[in-house]
Amino acid sequence: MEHLAIIMDGNGRWAKARHKPRLSGHRAGAEALDRVMHYCRDAGIKYLTVYAFSTENWKRSKAEVSGLMKLLSSFIKSKEKELVANGVRFRVVGRKADLSPKLQKEIAGLEERTKGGGFTLAVALSYGGRAEIIDAANEWRRANPKDDLTEESFRAFLYAPDIPDPDLIVRTSGEVRTSNFLLWESAYSEYYFTDVLWPDFDRAEFDKALASYGKRERRMGGRLKK
Ligand code: IPE
Ligand code: IPE
Ligand code: MG
Repeated sequence: MEHLAIIMDGNGRWAKARHKPRLSGHRAGAEALDRVMHYCRDAGIKYLTVYAFSTENWKRSKAEVSGLMKLLSSFIKSKEKELVANGVRFRVVGRKADLSPKLQKEIAGLEERTKGGGFTLAVALSYGGRAEIIDAANEWRRANPKDDLTEESFRAFLYAPDIPDPDLIVRTSGEVRTSNFLLWESAYSEYYFTDVLWPDFDRAEFDKALASYGKRERRMGGRLKK
């Protein structure tokens, strides 16, 4: 598997079960992401995309939104050395313009300084699959006012056209929906759903997801020849 994508869900319920504030669930979620990056590298995966904040998540309380943004900013500041040392290329996919100028600057800096990494961590931030398709369509029209749209020419305007489509998309916390994640890119992705809450996601869960993926027959619409 080249590209794993994860809808990291269940931080709030994890905190609630412990009578803690939602933000402590998000902090535990950030630790889970740290672990999972290592599992991915051990498994030879080249790209990890994680859904960290959706275009719809702006509707949450001001306190939760600003807490999440602070958490992201501190992730960026505290992780740089480790990411560089481990050859991790950091990217953000999403409507970056929605983020504060300060956070945008921090993101651009880390993206630039980790450019050489061979393992990509793509963080979906202010990301929506519909927003991505609309943004790409608008950009495409600006660049190609006279042509007919094709899948290939359209693809080039997605947030990260150089990243291959995800092979497997994992969602934690028992919800069985995509919540607007990677709509275009997931056309032929496999899905794996688990009831485990994101902060509890550990190596055993990771291995289960990969084992399940290993048993799938990916036909991409074709049929295997006998
Ligand atoms: C996922 O956890 C992280 C974000 C959406 C930022 P939630 O915050 O959605 O956790 P639940 O779904 O309320 O448990
Ligand atoms: C999806 O989770 C977004 C992220 C994990 C960042 P949500 O918790 O926001 O999605 P819904 O509300 O359950 O669909
Ligand atoms: Mg949720």
